[in-house]
Amino acid sequence: MSTNIDRNTASTGRSNAGSAELFRRGQRVITGGNARLSVFQRPHPIYITNGTGVNIVDADGNTYLDFLNNFTALIHGHSFRPVLDRLHHQLELGISFSGPTKLEVEFAELLCRRVPYFDQIRFMNSGTEAVMYTIKAARALTGKLKIAKLEGAFHGGYDPLEVSLDSAPANWGPRLAPNAVPYCAGIPEWHTTDTVVLPFNELIATRQILEGNKDKLAAVIIDVLPQRAGLVPIDRSYLAFLREFTARHGIVLISDEVMSFRLSYRGAINRFGFEADLCAFAKIIGGGLPIGAVGGMPQFMLAFDPTNGKPLVPQSGTFSANPMSMAAGIAALEALSEQSFQRLDDLGEYACSSLTEMFRQERLPYSVTGMGSMFRIHLRHEAPKDYREAYAAPEQQEKMGMLIRALQEKGVIVSPTCQLCLSTPMLTDHIDEMVTSVREAARMVEAREPRRAS
Ligand SMILES: Cc1ncc(COP(=O)(O)O)c(C=O)c1O
Repeated sequence: MSTNIDRNTASTGRSNAGSAELFRRGQRVITGGNARLSVFQRPHPIYITNGTGVNIVDADGNTYLDFLNNFTALIHGHSFRPVLDRLHHQLELGISFSGPTKLEVEFAELLCRRVPYFDQIRFMNSGTEAVMYTIKAARALTGKLKIAKLEGAFHGGYDPLEVSLDSAPANWGPRLAPNAVPYCAGIPEWHTTDTVVLPFNELIATRQILEGNKDKLAAVIIDVLPQRAGLVPIDRSYLAFLREFTARHGIVLISDEVMSFRLSYRGAINRFGFEADLCAFAKIIGGGLPIGAVGGMPQFMLAFDPTNGKPLVPQSGTFSANPMSMAAGIAALEALSEQSFQRLDDLGEYACSSLTEMFRQERLPYSVTGMGSMFRIHLRHEAPKDYREAYAAPEQQEKMGMLIRALQEKGVIVSPTCQLCLSTPMLTDHIDEMVTSVREAARMVEAREPRRAS
């Protein structure tokens, strides 16, 4: 995910000499000095050494409250004992094998029990891979090529779904008929014709676009809470329309729950009360280890079935369903009850209302969006309703970078888009501490630049 954020601008209080030195060493051997764009920052990233519960510690011994939790994956925070115990046990038995294990059967049983709408699942190693296989299955099953996605929605690093991931006013076209804009160099031209971009939550315009493409569409992929499109929940009427339209026209409806599975004990599908044809999972289901999974109705999962010969979509992977990820996933999910999600929801509501109230008291032109245990701070007075409203122009990005850096200085880690997420060891005290840090960081940022109308 592109960060587009230069965090160079805020002053540094804590010592970061150890991270700076690791960056210097890293630059000699890793292109860019660290191996993941989403955590790159200027002048250098903060290199982490360890984490426990809600905290992480960097290479200089600085401690942070972690409101990012490896981009929402660590729902139990760091060093969660049940996951560590399962992993230690599995380490002694073997790390990976060239054969299936009982663990994958047990984990699949657990997931299928939890998410009642599907009976079968397959495992991969990342969310990107999971999403990619849902698209491959949809294309193979329907014999059609086009994919429709929501403007601005992030679905990982698969070419066709990167279209219009970061379109800007100069190229995004009409609001109700968005252009398909390539995300980066090297994306084949045909992706911009085969990926159809939908205006989020705009039912009438979406119907018109889908009508015009229905005979060529293999799939419509959605995220019910698309982070990059503002972390604004999908409208239920919009969702109901997409479900009905896709079913009527033989188009596969895919739910990307890589992040939004966090929304309930049975996933986003359950929280929003609908059924997708295929679903992509990752992040929290791996208990902190790499994972991806595709689940769905049997007639769609059939695409991967090798029992009667070569499947429509051959799916393998050296580390797919590796026992370490399975063991960690089982331990993490077994420790998540319906009450755990309720508690996270309550804490999420407390965080959002505390931030909103603080912005009001401080007369800050900021707002909050989100749902459940995930929320995002926007540097605009009115909460955005879609990608275009959430879009930050370069000067706003710079200001956001300052805020994020100032928060880091105060010991709070958030995402490059100022998204925050909760973990089960968090308490209201941690939320209060975060809100205080946001207040102080925002005061610093606002003091540096004249307040603009948002
Ligand atoms: C909605 C969504 N889909 C797909 C992905 C890609 O997952 P991964 O980073 O595991 O490849 C992400 C990652 O943040 C995501 O948020």
